[in-house]
Parts: sequence; C-alpha cells; structure tokens
Amino acid sequence: MLKLLLTAALAVTGLCQYQAPANSSTTFNNPVLEAVGADPWVFRHNGHYYMTYTNNENITLYRSDVLTDWNNAESKLIFKPPLGMNYSTDLWAPEIHNINDNWYVIFTADPRNDAPPPEVEMWCEYNCPAVHHRMFVVEGIGSDPWEAQWEYKAELDTYDQFAIDGTYFTHNGGLYHIYSCWYRQYDGWPANLCITKMENPWTISSPFSERQIISVPEYTWEKTPFGRASNDRLSSNEGPQQLTNPKTNQTFVIFSAARSDNRNYCLAQLELVGDDPMNPGDWRKHPYPVFYQNPSEHAYGVGHASFTTSPDGSENWIVYHGMQDPTDGWYARTIRAQKFEWNDDGSPKFPKPGYGPYSVPSGQ
Ligand SMILES: *[C@@H]1O[C@H](CO)[C@@H](O)[C@H](O)[C@H]1NC(C)=O
Ligand SMILES: *[C@@H]1O[C@H](CO)[C@@H](O)[C@H](O)[C@H]1NC(C)=O
Ligand SMILES: *[C@@H]1O[C@H](CO)[C@@H](O)[C@H](O)[C@H]1NC(C)=O
Ligand SMILES: *[C@@H]1O[C@H](CO)[C@@H](O)[C@H](O)[C@H]1NC(C)=O
Repeated sequence: MLKLLLTAALAVTGLCQYQAPANSSTTFNNPVLEAVGADPWVFRHNGHYYMTYTNNENITLYRSDVLTDWNNAESKLIFKPPLGMNYSTDLWAPEIHNINDNWYVIFTADPRNDAPPPEVEMWCEYNCPAVHHRMFVVEGIGSDPWEAQWEYKAELDTYDQFAIDGTYFTHNGGLYHIYSCWYRQYDGWPANLCITKMENPWTISSPFSERQIISVPEYTWEKTPFGRASNDRLSSNEGPQQLTNPKTNQTFVIFSAARSDNRNYCLAQLELVGDDPMNPGDWRKHPYPVFYQNPSEHAYGVGHASFTTSPDGSENWIVYHGMQDPTDGWYARTIRAQKFEWNDDGSPKFPKPGYGPYSVPSGQ
C-alpha cells in the first residue's frame, strides 16, 4: 500500500520517472517455465535476466525482465551447428560467461547423436553412448549479449576423452576449465570432475599429465543406485559451477551428483580450502548433498544449478531443474528458481526444493 501511495505521489509531482514493475504479483510458483527444460544457466546483465538451457539442437538465448516467469520471454538463436561436425548433435548444458568484455558460450556436443560406431563402443568397460561428447566454445563479440556477434571459436582440449558440462572457473586471476571426465578414454563410468588450466577462454594450456581429478563419486549418495557397491556404473559428478560467497570470498564449486534421470540426482559441494585449484588436496568435499529431493512436495531429481541475484542485488537465487514425476526420467525435468542464504561457516544454505508460492526476488 505504501508503495502504491508513493508511486501515485511521484506520478503526480512528476519529480522522477517511475518505471512500473514488470509483474506486480508478489509471489510466484515453480516451475518458472512450463516447458520441459534442463541444465538452466541464468545471468543478470544491465537490468535484464538472460537464460539458456539444453535443447539438444542449438543454443537459444532468452531474455526476461523477471527471474520468475520465462513463459513469454524473448528468444534469440545464437548458435546452430552445421551438419557433419564433431559438435553437430546433442548440444548440452550451454553456459554464457562474460570474460574480458566479450561473451563465451561453453557447451557440450557430440558428432552423431550419442551413437558411436560399434568398433569404438566395444572398447568401453560399460555401455558408453557419450564416448564422443566433447567441450566447445562459441564467442560473442560485443558488450551486450543480445546484440553480440556469435561465432564458433574452438574445441576445448580434453585429450580426446569424454568431457561434458564444462564451466569456467577463476581464481587469483587464473582461468581454469572444470568438467565431467572419465579416468581413461573408454571407462564409461564413473564420471568425475577434472580441472585443467586455460590460457584464454578457448585454449587449454595444461598437457594431459597436468590434468587433475578433484572429485569422484565416493559417497553412497553419489552412486547409482544409491549406495551401489559392485561397480561405478551410472555414478556421476557433473554440472560444476563456481559460487563465491560475496562477504567472505570463500570459493565453492557446486556440482551435481548421482544420475540425472532419476530422483536421487542432487547438488554437492567442493570448497577450495587451499590456494591452488590444480592441487586436489586443496579441495574439500562436503560429506552430504547440499540440495536434494523433497518427497513431501514431489520435488525430485534436483540439480544442475546456476546462480544469480535479485534485481536489487540483495538476495542470492539458485536456478535449477527438477522433476515432479521421477518415473518419467529426463523428460520430466523443468526449470525452477528459489532464494538461498549463507550458513554461519560461509557455505551456501540452500532451501528445500518445492513449488511455492514464494516471494518474488527483492526489487522485482
Ligand atoms: C506474474 O508472474 C506470475 C508468476 O510468475 C505469473 O503466473 C503471471 O502470469 C504473471 N503476470 C503477468 C501479468 O505477467
Ligand atoms: C532450436 O532448437 C529448438 C529445440 O529443438 C527448436 O524448437 C527451435 O526451433 C530451434 N531454433 C531454430 C532457430 O532453429
Ligand atoms: C572428431 O572427433 C574424433 C573422435 O574424437 C577425432 O579423432 C577427430 O580428430 C575430430 N575431428 C576434428 C575435426 O576435430
Ligand atoms: C574479498 O575480495 C575482495 C576483492 O579482492 C577484497 O576487496 C575483500 O577485502 C575481500 N574480503 C575478504 C573478507 O577477504
């Protein structure tokens, strides 16, 4: 009410230009997009929210004034791969980063719809349809992501081995690639987290001997099915994202663990407790998942998150995918958003996943 009176007063006196909020509702419900969607990547730039997510075929950028409703967002195709390339099919988990004043889409793709020839597939320890998935970069020149000129730039060197869900990680001015990897070319499983050094956003500088594995699925909740003791089939660490506590500067990598097509998919946490991201001993893994299914609200398989803030910058928000019906696998995934806080020890304090209604982000 107070806000309305103030608005009226300002309009009458004309002292300053009042901009109506894009959506005057004070609450929202999940999902924030009705359509099926996975691996959301969201960022805020110059008063707009931008999102991209996995659609398998191309990279489409969405723009919205609000974080909590993407059903009528503007969209723009920023990259459609030509046929016959190693990055023509199964484009997954695109992320868009602003580095050195240009834009970089880092994404996963494969040459032939995850159907390797039998004489490649036969080498794998387990069934390995994704054996040819690799990481690629598209560059957008320009300061405005909506107007940038986008072009294919390069493949990121992962030593001709499986690589998915790569992200950029920065520390003390250094740039790194963190991605989901196998130990060897034909393992099939487990999917671990690897780190390598970068010379720029499209060039890896580490030789294979320098590649480090900073996380493997070791706890019961990272294995699939839960606690599997016999082998590592389906056990995954993937979807890594850097998250820095703005007050303490503590640096975390929040990643997804277990398996993306069922209810146990969850978020896990690594903290950089030393000063060298290339030293596995400088990372500490939290022994329990930090964001996981909430059966009482039918929120299952929650993972693959990205992070942003409220329009006024005062709140932290997580954008992730989850399932209402966990028996429907990958096709049950939809995109959701919720506010999160920080624990006393400086680590992120994520909410229980659910559908709301929740208060809209502060300043919306
Ligand atoms: C406002 O946002 C809510 C929740 O996201 C949505 O259901 C509603 O349609 C929106 N209203 C308008 C006018 O955009
Ligand atoms: C991009 O891919 C999506 C998902 O398949 C499709 O719906 C959309 O039409 C494509 N966009 C263009 C411009 O081809
Ligand atoms: C495409 O991928 C195959 C298998 O990983 C690799 O041997 C080949 O060199 C790649 N082609 C190009 C043009 O990079
Ligand atoms: C966090 O990093 C910024 C930028 O380097 C620095 O100004 C600030 O003092 C740091 N804060 C803490 C608590 O270390």
